[in-house]
Amino acid sequence: MKKLGLVLFTTVCILSLTLAVPAQKKDDKKSGGDATKGEAVFKDKNCTVCHWPDKETKRIGPGLKGLFTHKKMWDDRPLTEANVRDMILKGGGKMTGFEDQLTPKELDNLIAYLKTL
Ligand code: HEC
Repeated sequence: MKKLGLVLFTTVCILSLTLAVPAQKKDDKKSGGDATKGEAVFKDKNCTVCHWPDKETKRIGPGLKGLFTHKKMWDDRPLTEANVRDMILKGGGKMTGFEDQLTPKELDNLIAYLKTL
């Protein structure tokens, strides 16, 4: 009987662990990027000089309103978060990259903000 108790105890432990892990992941995702802070980054780094955040029309670069609803980027790459991150960090065409000016956290916030446009 003692053994059965141990088995039960172990099962409960494993179950609660597997249940706890996805819950934690969800939280991680939530804290991934802060759109409000991202908006400040967008202004601080002067993205607004070249991009309207609230229009689809071109300024110097393309308007970024509805960016994440697009299927393709300006250079025909598929519009994915990875490609947008790459564009911001490395630049391309007439846009210079911001690799030296953004911390990973600032980039996360910026992406979260761009997703709200
Ligand atoms: C000097 C002007 C300039 C600045 C500053 C600038 N960009 Fe750009 N950006 C461009 C241009 C121009 C393009 C399109 C490439 C081209 O036409 O040569 C572009 C493209 C992009 C794209 C891809 C859009 C699409 O639909 O494919 C994103 C996303 C983007 N920029 C985000 C940003 C962010 C975020 C910042 C600020 C950190 C920023 N840009 C700062 C000029 C600029």
